[in-house]
Amino acid sequence: MSDIFVIKKKINNFYNKIVRVSGDKSLSIRWVLLASLAKGKSRAFNLLYSDDVRASINVIKKLGIKVKLKKNFCEIYGEGFNGYKYKENITLDAQNSGTLGRLILGLLINSDKKIKIIGDKSLSKRDFKRVADPLRKFGAKLNLTNNRNLPLNILGTKSLKPIKYFENRGSAQCKSSIIFAGLRTEGTTIIKAKKSRDHTELLLKYLKLPIRLSRRKNYDLIKIKKAKKINSFNYHIPSDISSASFFIVLTCLTENSSLTVKNVNINPSRIGIVIILKKMGVEINFRNKRFYKGELIADIFVKGSKNLKSINCPSSLNASSIDEFLLIFLVAAKAKGVSFFKNLNELNQKESPRLKWGSKILNLMGVKNIVTDSSIKIFGNPNINIKKKITIRNYLKDHRIFMSSAIAALAFGGEWHLYNKSSINTSFPNFLKILREIQK
Ligand code: S3P
Repeated sequence: MSDIFVIKKKINNFYNKIVRVSGDKSLSIRWVLLASLAKGKSRAFNLLYSDDVRASINVIKKLGIKVKLKKNFCEIYGEGFNGYKYKENITLDAQNSGTLGRLILGLLINSDKKIKIIGDKSLSKRDFKRVADPLRKFGAKLNLTNNRNLPLNILGTKSLKPIKYFENRGSAQCKSSIIFAGLRTEGTTIIKAKKSRDHTELLLKYLKLPIRLSRRKNYDLIKIKKAKKINSFNYHIPSDISSASFFIVLTCLTENSSLTVKNVNINPSRIGIVIILKKMGVEINFRNKRFYKGELIADIFVKGSKNLKSINCPSSLNASSIDEFLLIFLVAAKAKGVSFFKNLNELNQKESPRLKWGSKILNLMGVKNIVTDSSIKIFGNPNINIKKKITIRNYLKDHRIFMSSAIAALAFGGEWHLYNKSSINTSFPNFLKILREIQK
């Protein structure tokens, strides 16, 4: 089957559509990892069955944990907090997943056997020094390729010492990896962390593990002590706002349209896109808000916009919308005026250098923009209407590039040839199916 996806026609407007997107990726991976350390059978409903989550499942299986994957739920039979059983020199493949690759290191910090962590081409280009540095402070031995990349070898240590660490990138993956290491370490590990998604903290609190969280204006203070035991737990994974965002943005770029995305995780550390869209003049709101095991859930309602406004985006919103910027740039492309996004160097640290790619896609669309290593200025055109052929390829199979390009094609027209369709399997295998539902 061809892995090229061609879009030749803009989407017609759609009204009052209701969609459900798949389970949250961050929560799915965290559930798999924590359930693997719990004592007994844990069950998750609406677990995201995507390549990143399957890679997480394969990793815990290799660590000796039994998993049953059913159509409607997944069961993990944890062997307790020190229950991993594996041979010397095993290799764990994190495939494309930065979250898995980084978080699992924290859990393996007391391994007395050597473990090799590998990843695919994209993950092997990404920075692992950012987690290796703090984990070495705990006492772990870590060898990185070129002191920065995968493959890496980890040899943990039984004589761990707690650390004090300032996580200043706003990276939830680094923060979570250190939190996991702290759970294995006698004494109190203290992290001062620039704001980023806090699912790990909320899950540990829900599980009554020894974590304390004080929220300050610009950072959180997190204190973790050694855990003795995790009780098995069931979880209904809410839908992923990052997946919902493709259809949210498609709606706001399509006049006379409206859409509701059901049951989405609207954790305040994830809703930067909603705040940004509101500032840009989009009618978007939350309905049926409710709490579930510490996480906030709601239906998101959004309407197509006639008058999009440009934005000088506050960088305080960067972390809470970090996976949505390719889409936000598309909204800026249609907004009246010049938009500016800054302090976005982290965006070039993703599955592909996304700030560069954002600019490249806008260039292909004929939208003027000025990009640096950490910022982009976008000169919006409310009458944007593409007529030419655009080809998107060689983008390290970054799932979000494929899906954002599909949204651009449907919103702005032109003939788009998108390579590597199967990249959607990383985070959102149902993406094209839901697009078809909206188009029906
Ligand atoms: C994630 C954190 C973010 C995000 C990624 C998922 C997580 O990465 O981009 O898609 O689940 O912790 P960083 O922590 O590197 O910013």
